Amino acid sequence: MTEEMLQITGGIPLQGEITVQGAKNSALPLMAAALLCEGETVLKRVPQLSDVYAASRILNRLGCRCTAEGSTVSIRHSGAENCEIPDADMRAMRSSIMFLGPILGRMHRCTITMPGGCELGPRPIDMHLAAMRRMGVQIFEDGGKIRCTAEKLSGARIHLPLPSVGVTENVIMAAVGAEGETVLTNAAREPEIADLANYLNQCGADISGAGESTVVIRGGKKLTGTEYAVMPDRIAAMTYLCAAAASGGSICLSGANPRDMESCLHVLEAAGCTVGCCGSRIFLDRSGALKPVPYICTMPYPGFPTDAQALISAVLCTAKGTSVIEETIFESRYKHLAALMRMGANARVSGRTAVLQGVPRLHGASVEATDLRGGAAMAVAAFGAEGVTDITALHHIDRGYEHFAETFHSLGGAVRRCRFSASEREKQGVGA
Ligand code: EPZ
Repeated sequence: MTEEMLQITGGIPLQGEITVQGAKNSALPLMAAALLCEGETVLKRVPQLSDVYAASRILNRLGCRCTAEGSTVSIRHSGAENCEIPDADMRAMRSSIMFLGPILGRMHRCTITMPGGCELGPRPIDMHLAAMRRMGVQIFEDGGKIRCTAEKLSGARIHLPLPSVGVTENVIMAAVGAEGETVLTNAAREPEIADLANYLNQCGADISGAGESTVVIRGGKKLTGTEYAVMPDRIAAMTYLCAAAASGGSICLSGANPRDMESCLHVLEAAGCTVGCCGSRIFLDRSGALKPVPYICTMPYPGFPTDAQALISAVLCTAKGTSVIEETIFESRYKHLAALMRMGANARVSGRTAVLQGVPRLHGASVEATDLRGGAAMAVAAFGAEGVTDITALHHIDRGYEHFAETFHSLGGAVRRCRFSASEREKQGVGA
């Protein structure tokens, strides 16, 4: 059997300009939200990714007509009222849970199973279900299926025990289809939430406070599809900036939103990079030595994002001194460090803390992507490393990055995507 791998020859400083892709973590909830609208929604700047294809499969199964042409996705509700998502589609990605709110908001009943997605430790859906119960939904679990029904969905006061991104988005989408007012407190403030609310408001919803801790949704409005451009992907942007930093390069990102990335840009500056912003452009230059960052703690927005933790750790592996990272959002998000250690990094993990003792240089190795951002972090490290790195299990990276190899190639990176025989590699004892 043949599989694909990325082969990266490190040591070439990345140079040049690229345009940032649309945000996966905004495109997916926006596609789910289109279920709430009559007529057609046309989403622009949708990244071409396996998770987007999975969301489009779900929409088609639910009775929508979802078609894509390049980065434009059109979604039209056909009036069919299928409200069950098959287990295989649920398990294709974590974001399948984003359909719970809009299906309930529209049809008041829904059958799902547990969602899949990156394994970052336990990823329960208890808060999603608790929030739906507050809105009058009854939930029964039978044989792995989660059946949700409501006579009617009612606005409610909902306080989240922690500011979950997905739960905040699901509550907003369900509340749009509910009768009366929903007041959501301790809501997540990630920019993707404001993007979702902007789209829904443009369709006719009445949502205020999205992007702040308290969101108020006045439900029951008639929604009509609209044309909307997905926000830029701040984590993809951070990935390319980190790769430029690791390789000692100098790049410019266009079509970015620097305001959404302040905590990331601040850490890159602390690591010795020169960072400049002008409108929607971000410049990064790393000509001097990388500096260690004494303490980085992942936090809900506007704190340093958990999704950028693996990426910055790949940079700090070669900073002169000790960097400490604390991961507070997910229980198990250091799997990539085993691969970085295979490349020569000196890292120690104790519980949720990782200590990186910088080494002068990493070297190429054969590694396997462990999850989406972990796999991207291996590529970041590879561009700064001496020699050739082979990265396998690319399905993880394909979930979140559009034209990953081509983008790095356009920055002068020595990278190619090629096929290999899995049995040959087994003989060589490859793995992270
Ligand atoms: C979103 O996941 C993102 N995914 C993740 O991006 C991101 O890492 C995460 O937010 C945090 O920023 C999408 O937007 C599609 P959460 P989500 O609910 O919504 C716990 C990437 O690399 N929790 O904010 O699933 C949960 O276990 C990815 O692009 C419960 O306990 O994250 C975690 O510890 C991966 N019960 C914490 O909350 C629940 O019912 C925050 O998770 C729900 C969540």
